[in-house]
Amino acid sequence: MAGLSLIDSALLHEQAFINGQWCDADDERTLVVTDPATGERLASVPSMGVGETRRAIEAAEAAWPEWRARPAAERATLLERWHALMLENIDDLAVLMTREQGKPLAEAKGEIRYGASFVKWFAEEARRAYGETVPAPSKDRRILVLKQPVGVCGAITPWNFPNAMITRKCAPALAAGCPIVIKPSELTPLSALALAELAERAGFPPGVINIITGLPEGIGGELTSNPAVRKLSFTGSTRVGSLLMRQSAGDIKRLSLELGGNAPLIVFDDADLELAVAGTMVSKFRNAGQTCVCANRILVQSGIHDRFVERLMSEIETLRCGNGMEDDITVGPLINDQAVHKVARHLDDALSQGASLIIGQIPNEQDRLVLPTLLTGVTDKMLVTQEETFGPVAPIMRFETEEEAVRIANATPFGLAAYFFTESMRRAWRVGEALEFGMVGLNTGSVSMEVAPFGGIKQSGLGREGARQGLDEYLEEKAFHIGGLE
Ligand code: SIN
Repeated sequence: MAGLSLIDSALLHEQAFINGQWCDADDERTLVVTDPATGERLASVPSMGVGETRRAIEAAEAAWPEWRARPAAERATLLERWHALMLENIDDLAVLMTREQGKPLAEAKGEIRYGASFVKWFAEEARRAYGETVPAPSKDRRILVLKQPVGVCGAITPWNFPNAMITRKCAPALAAGCPIVIKPSELTPLSALALAELAERAGFPPGVINIITGLPEGIGGELTSNPAVRKLSFTGSTRVGSLLMRQSAGDIKRLSLELGGNAPLIVFDDADLELAVAGTMVSKFRNAGQTCVCANRILVQSGIHDRFVERLMSEIETLRCGNGMEDDITVGPLINDQAVHKVARHLDDALSQGASLIIGQIPNEQDRLVLPTLLTGVTDKMLVTQEETFGPVAPIMRFETEEEAVRIANATPFGLAAYFFTESMRRAWRVGEALEFGMVGLNTGSVSMEVAPFGGIKQSGLGREGARQGLDEYLEEKAFHIGGLE
């Protein structure tokens, strides 16, 4: 397979994984996977649809009784083996990811560790799916709250984190006792298939983990309309999340939706400048700005504005943009031409409305490499602050007062992540409580980790992933009333 060399070549699969079998599409159609840095064809995977998805759901349904009946400790042991295999194969998993997604190799390794951390975490949480006992209203009764697996789950995962967004959904499902059918992004299926290979080696029984490759429509349609699927988890755009929600309404499926964001990052005059610059770099340029928690609107108070811009500029100048397989590259290519076009459209709009381009350039739409870009003089009328840019563009808005900053920050239908920098304890509490977001970072640009709940409010979605809360998304609570005990 062209130019993709791995230490363990068995990790590169060009077939989907249903009921423990590697298989092609029924009509043998395929989709080509390409390297966003070079345009090179890397592999092809089956282009599956409704029929194959239905079979995967049936396999999951058949595997469910045995899987849910296993003691949690046994499910945890399999998850621990899967976790160990991910780390043992980190070099190959990172190469697959960099080649199909574009992020620099060091960052890809970071994502494998991040992805593996969910598997470890939920292996541990599997043993702690505690229920409750409730004080009964009469002597002859007892009341228990049992936690039981939801049933067959579906997951639709994005291209920006081809490993971690799978493990963040799959590990809690498996820990809870649910089998799962996963549809990875058609742009990055190879990382998902490598995870299935490692799951098979870890010893998960057939049907418990299934990976269907193909275009979204047929697979998503079946996952949302098949009554055997009791829960669907999706990470992606608000537009698609809303469509999946409508499609899932027929049989009232449970949903977890991690959708779009438009994260504000606020730097107050009393911030620690170095901390604020470091936090902005981490939040803004991770994965070339292609994350839903990236700072999308950087609000800087007048008194610190010029010093902040100058320091941020010198940090941006240290970034190296290029093919993520090359040494020292810190910003890889964007995923596809539409992504580059969106950045170009946002920059054109900002410059036409009076923003200043301090570093970077309007991208050449023939090239996936987009230079890290710094804009000043940005306003809330510009596309760059109204929509997620999903690229390495840092737009700076100047503000005067705390009230103004909080008002601008909250003036969005999205509510995923927000960040702010201040050394004042009083302001920290005031602003932390006033920001209408599911995750708030104070003096940090990073909120993504397995131990803390990840998720948004408003149009950024439903439910939480990771943390203790992430397991509950895959468990039903049953009130068990026992009478006649006197
Ligand atoms: C995302 O962008 O969808 C997830 C980002 C993260 O987990 O930090």
